[in-house]
Amino acid sequence: MENIDVKDVFRQLYGVPVEAIYKAPARINLIGEHIDYNGGLVFPSTIGIYTKCYFSKRNDREIHLCSLNKKKAVTRTLDDLTKNGNSWENYPIGAIWSLARNGFKIETGFNMLFTSEIPMGSGLSSSAAILDLTIYALACEYNFDIDKKLVSLIAWETENKYCGLSCGIMDQAIIALGKKNHAMLLDCYKYKYDYFPFDLGDYRLLVLKTNKPRALTDSKYNERVKECDIALDLIKENYRNANNLCEYKVSEMDKIKNALNNDTLYRRVLHVVSENQRVNNFKDALVKGDLELVGKLLNESHFSLKNNYEVTGTHLDTITELSRSQKGCLGARMTGAGFGGCAIAIVHKDNVEEFKKNVMKGYSNTLKIECEIFECEIPDGVCKE
Ligand code: GLA
Repeated sequence: MENIDVKDVFRQLYGVPVEAIYKAPARINLIGEHIDYNGGLVFPSTIGIYTKCYFSKRNDREIHLCSLNKKKAVTRTLDDLTKNGNSWENYPIGAIWSLARNGFKIETGFNMLFTSEIPMGSGLSSSAAILDLTIYALACEYNFDIDKKLVSLIAWETENKYCGLSCGIMDQAIIALGKKNHAMLLDCYKYKYDYFPFDLGDYRLLVLKTNKPRALTDSKYNERVKECDIALDLIKENYRNANNLCEYKVSEMDKIKNALNNDTLYRRVLHVVSENQRVNNFKDALVKGDLELVGKLLNESHFSLKNNYEVTGTHLDTITELSRSQKGCLGARMTGAGFGGCAIAIVHKDNVEEFKKNVMKGYSNTLKIECEIFECEIPDGVCKE
């Protein structure tokens, strides 16, 4: 969607010109899956596909929202910020609700037109993008003193308290604070982060989109969060105290097994504790340039998410298996919440074209749907265009 067209659409829709444009990128997670809400380390990066919003202020108290992708427009007022079923408008309206809860009250209405290249339900975090985007845009337009870290925290609060997903902070953090050509190692317990240059030399990072519509993602996600909470309580009661599951070590798993006395909970915790260790190993391997090990850790992460955390499914398993069997592929894993969505793979630059051809063919032969495979740049986080 070219800027000039969208500006025209905006003028036709609202009868006034666009005053400002903001954009937020999508994200992938290199490693550290389903451990942000367990106080763990995660290693995400932004990717260069965007949700944008076109903005102008109004003199009344009306909020006019439109999604070009959904071809839906809604009008609300600042005096009614109630949730509307599962509608997309819950994200921008919820963002205004959270801003107000945090003392940032908007007193005049506005027009906002959204366009997005990030498909909803693709596992690339379209929801965190629209939340960070709305909060950042409103903070800039209404002169609120909100830095990007606070943008992410308010977005996280919206997702948890308004939208109803008990998610961790990873997506909101990376989309707000992402840095060009870097991945971010984020300690989700302390909310501390470091940037690492993401340079794979002769290798390329590919995003593999399964095109499997994600069913039940939110309820299954919340179920895993709950299982982890129950497990933590049991381990604290029957073994030793800790602030979160990621404070336990792999060497303690025997004791933890006894404390839990439940196979499902044991496998959930085994994933969490081992995944946190894998993130540390991944960081060391990346810094040393040991790409073979980087790839091996991606594979191990996927197997743990498949067998112990049980959040992969046929589509993600098939696409990553096909990837691993291709020449020049060092490793592949699901990325994000799972249950469909996207995977990532590291592939030698000379093999990328053949990799794409073979994986796409094998995938459609096996599952009778097409997948998409693309390379992405790593841009800065949310910003004004
Ligand atoms: C979703 C959530 C994140 C994180 C991932 C899994 O993307 O929004 O907080 O838990 O799943 O790692």
